[in-house]
Amino acid sequence: MKGGATTIYVCMNTDCKSRGAQSVIDALQAHLEKSGKTEFKVEPYICFSACNSGPNVVVTDQRCWLSGVQPSDAKNIVRYLQGGPPVERLQGKNDPDLEEMIFSLIDAGLISD
Ligand code: FES
Repeated sequence: MKGGATTIYVCMNTDCKSRGAQSVIDALQAHLEKSGKTEFKVEPYICFSACNSGPNVVVTDQRCWLSGVQPSDAKNIVRYLQGGPPVERLQGKNDPDLEEMIFSLIDAGLISD
């Protein structure tokens, strides 16, 4: 967590980008802005090594990994991050060991910004 806000990382490498990651970033930012939620911020990430399941969205603070994310998921994602119902369609798509390794790498400060 930086600056008091929970970071929502969105992969912007080739595969995720080709599946619409920029639109996912735009939708998340627009939803956060519209709803006045300053406790979250959205940042690009270089790659989570789960390129076949993207667009991938990772929130290490909550050990949350979402795959196949579409712009229309933005509202449900933010609701989930605030304790709402899980977004099951987007969860459990990757090897849990890979997800834990990426969480640890990001926590260790190996981030792209
Ligand atoms: S391109 Fe997104 S996880 Fe690698």
